[in-house]
This record gives sequence, structure tokens and C-alpha cells, in this order.
Amino acid sequence: MGIRVLSNHLVNQIAAGEVIERPAAVVRELVENALDAGATQIDIVANDGGLSLISVTDNGSGMGPDDLPLAVTRHATSKLQDENLFAISTMGFRGEALPSIGAVSRLTLTSRRATDAHAWSLFVEGGNVSGVQPAAHETGTTVEVRDLFFATPARLKFMKSTTAERQAIIDTVERLALANPLPVSLSSMTGAPC
Ligand SMILES: Nc1ncnc2c1ncn2[C@@H]1O[C@H](COP(=O)(O)OP(=O)(O)O)[C@@H](O)[C@H]1O
Ligand SMILES: [Mg+2]
Repeated sequence: MGIRVLSNHLVNQIAAGEVIERPAAVVRELVENALDAGATQIDIVANDGGLSLISVTDNGSGMGPDDLPLAVTRHATSKLQDENLFAISTMGFRGEALPSIGAVSRLTLTSRRATDAHAWSLFVEGGNVSGVQPAAHETGTTVEVRDLFFATPARLKFMKSTTAERQAIIDTVERLALANPLPVSLSSMTGAPC
């Protein structure tokens, strides 16, 4: 068999399988990004164990219109400004989470920096990135992940019950909230019995 280089799209889908094995991992990645952005308030919404919707809103630094496409580009990060791997003070730096999530879901990034007149948003569906559009948002960022794993049905089949995924999200948020002296709050959860 001939050797061939995999497409970016396929590479992102494969990475998604490693980086985000379940909805709780998406929540962890998004909250870590919010913490890295200096947020002091983080609101999380998860419906149906995170499989239909995960939304994380922060009041951190936000991103400009030029940053949004880069944020969903593989191996693009603002967290390694030089070649020194030993000076890392952030929770992420591999630049893989958002492109991976965007490869297997419907992802909307909406963000505004304090200096911007308004917010900008970007949509990614199964790895296809749309153009940047003007949007409404306070300073900070909302990342909305809908229909997680719709683009990878095999992974979707592998999910436990929505109740189990929901509990895994609660555990993840509790761990993050305990490790970080910040108001991380699970503001809404629907779709599964308490
Ligand atoms: N909530 C956020 N607020 C501000 N910038 C963000 C946020 N989430 C992601 N970003 C930007 O997008 C980049 C890519 O994010 P990600 O894919 O998680 O990779 P990493 O965190 O490893 O850099 C980050 O380096 C950061 O610059
Ligand atoms: Mg990250």
C-alpha cells in the first residue's frame, strides 16, 4: 500500500478522538482556556450530558477578528511566544483543543476584547470554517459547542448515558473550581434527571 499524507480534516478528527474523548473533556478544555484568558467569571451550560449543547462564557481578555480563525487552526496558540517549553504558565499550549472540537461538532466562537467596538463570531461545522461576522457580546468569549460528535457517529455510539456524561461534567467542573479560586459556575443543565 502506498504511503499518503492525511488531510488536515482527517488529522483534526483523529486528534479530536484523543483530545476530547467525551463531553466533560470539552468542558475542561473550554474552562482552561477561559482561565488562561484571565477570566474572573465563567458560566457553563450543558444540555443532554453536553451532547446537544455545551456553552462556556467568560469575561476574560477576548479575541479580535484576526485571532478567531487562528484559534481554530491546528497548532496555533498564543501561549508559546518563544521556543522555551520550560516557561509555560498556562493550562494549554498545544493549540489543539478548539480545532479538534470544531472537527466533530458545530462550534461557534463569539468574542470581544475590551478595546473593540463590538464582538466578532466564527462558526465551524465538522471542520469547515465560516467567515468572521460582527456579533453582540460583552468583553470576553462564549464558546458554544452543539451536536458534539455528530461528525463522528462511531464516537457518538461510544458515549455512555446522558446521565453518566452529565455526572462526568459535574465532576470536572467541581475539580476545576476547587483547583482555581475563581467563580466557575455550572449555570444550567438540562436533559437528564437529577
Ligand atoms: N476563552 C478564550 N479567551 C481568549 N482566547 C481564547 C479562548 N479560548 C481560546 N483562545 C485562544 O485560542 C487559542 C487556541 O486555543 P486551544 O485550541 O485551546 O489551544 P491552547 O489553549 O493549547 O493554546 C489559545 O491559544 C488562545 O489564544
Ligand atoms: Mg486550550
